[in-house]
Amino acid sequence: MTVTPPIVAPSILAADFAHLADEVRAVEDAADWLHVDVMDNHFVPNLTIGLPVVQSLRAVTRLPFDVHLMIDDPRRWAPGYADAGAYNVTFHAEACDNPVALAKDLRAAGAKAGLAIDRDTAIEPYLELLPSFDTLLIMTIKAGFGGQRFVPELLEKVRAARRHVDAGHLELRIEVDGGIAADTIEQAAAAGADAFVAGTAVYGADDPAEAVRRLRGLAERAVAGA
Ligand code: DX5
Ligand code: ZN
Repeated sequence: MTVTPPIVAPSILAADFAHLADEVRAVEDAADWLHVDVMDNHFVPNLTIGLPVVQSLRAVTRLPFDVHLMIDDPRRWAPGYADAGAYNVTFHAEACDNPVALAKDLRAAGAKAGLAIDRDTAIEPYLELLPSFDTLLIMTIKAGFGGQRFVPELLEKVRAARRHVDAGHLELRIEVDGGIAADTIEQAAAAGADAFVAGTAVYGADDPAEAVRRLRGLAERAVAGA
């Protein structure tokens, strides 16, 4: 298995939205990426934040933005996030009929391109598309809400993706999202994930920066021992 230093991406979905700039600064020195969950009340029932918030936050932190679009019609909206300076823009396979074309658009706009696979979607049809992507986000819950319980069975998709990525020598991060915490991150890392989104486990902690460091340490150890 390829060993790359793990990425930890706190999700601001679990932060205090009335103090977003402070919440971002609280993890600035500890996090690798900042995970921004965009939900449109159509692709998922929940509604969160959109482009104006991303544009405003871009000015207050150096952290790369890992934008997770849980929206319909990503072809229309996703490039705007790349234009706003997002480092990585991830859209859902279930919401897009031509993922490779959109990945090209995102890369042309200067961002990394990410493909997300929700809980009830099989990974196999998408493995062949991975050379067009920089990140693959495998949901370890059903997309839509923070604070849900991690579903360990979904790590089978991470294992399948890891086998495919290593066999093809692809340069692609395998990211997991949902229920990642101190008691679940090691199994996700051992399954082959190398990027970890954590909302509740970071912003629910007394010291969010310390929580990020602890999660990264657990992921590193799990891979070293695998
Ligand atoms: C949910 C979002 C997640 C969410 C994870 O659909 O994609 O990024 O913030 O929250 P936790 O870590 O609390 O499960
Ligand atoms: Zn997310």
